[in-house]
Amino acid sequence: MSLQNYSKIIRETRRGSNAQRSEMINASTMRAVAVLKDRQDLWPVLDVGCGEAYHVQENIKYGIPTVGLDIDIYGQLPEAQRRAKEQLGTYLPLVGGDAKYLPFKNDTFGRIDSRGMLMMIPFAVEEIEGDPIGQDRGAVQLAVVQVLSEMRRVAKPGGEVRIITFSDREPLESRYFKPTPKELEDLGVVAGLTPLSVDYYREPNPRFSLIEARFQK
Ligand SMILES: C[S@@+](CC[C@H](N)C(=O)[O-])C[C@H]1O[C@@H](n2cnc3c(N)ncnc32)[C@H](O)[C@@H]1O
Repeated sequence: MSLQNYSKIIRETRRGSNAQRSEMINASTMRAVAVLKDRQDLWPVLDVGCGEAYHVQENIKYGIPTVGLDIDIYGQLPEAQRRAKEQLGTYLPLVGGDAKYLPFKNDTFGRIDSRGMLMMIPFAVEEIEGDPIGQDRGAVQLAVVQVLSEMRRVAKPGGEVRIITFSDREPLESRYFKPTPKELEDLGVVAGLTPLSVDYYREPNPRFSLIEARFQK
């Protein structure tokens, strides 16, 4: 399976941020901007699995230095750059890459955000690497720990990792990784992260059943 095909599948199955375009800049994004604007200790920010980079663009608009990374180099990243050039008059700091091998130095980011990416780990490994790990819980957990370990490695000491992902209560198809809060917390601890809070997402009327996990390095 090639990266071009991955982009095609993401587009056709609406698994990327396209599917939620109008909802992307929502109340929780604006709350995050409000916090980050005044917290230079959390700069620079890394958005892992940024998709069409709506959150990156919003941060940049408010002067928050932010880098976005996604594996969808033939679909959402070029789309994000086209939109940013049109709307902001400039390209965004976006990087093509795999969350399992973050292409950044140790101790770089004050805050790492990842929305809707962790649940897709089995899907991306299956479609891109041709490795059908989806039904093998242990293999999926190992891949998730690898991602969390990479986030810890590139976070500054004391830096924060904030993850929003599907929970075990989400009824959507089984190829997604859908942990309980306890399972996600344990995987974060294995990766060397200190849990601050890991629980079901409490935003009113969320479209999906989610977990919000906050860790510290
Ligand atoms: C549901 S989208 C969410 C996009 C964005 N965070 C948002 O909130 O709009 C999940 C994104 O994670 C990306 N992704 C999945 N597995 C990845 C991996 N191993 N490395 C980097 N990105 C990945 C997908 O390509 C997709 O763009």
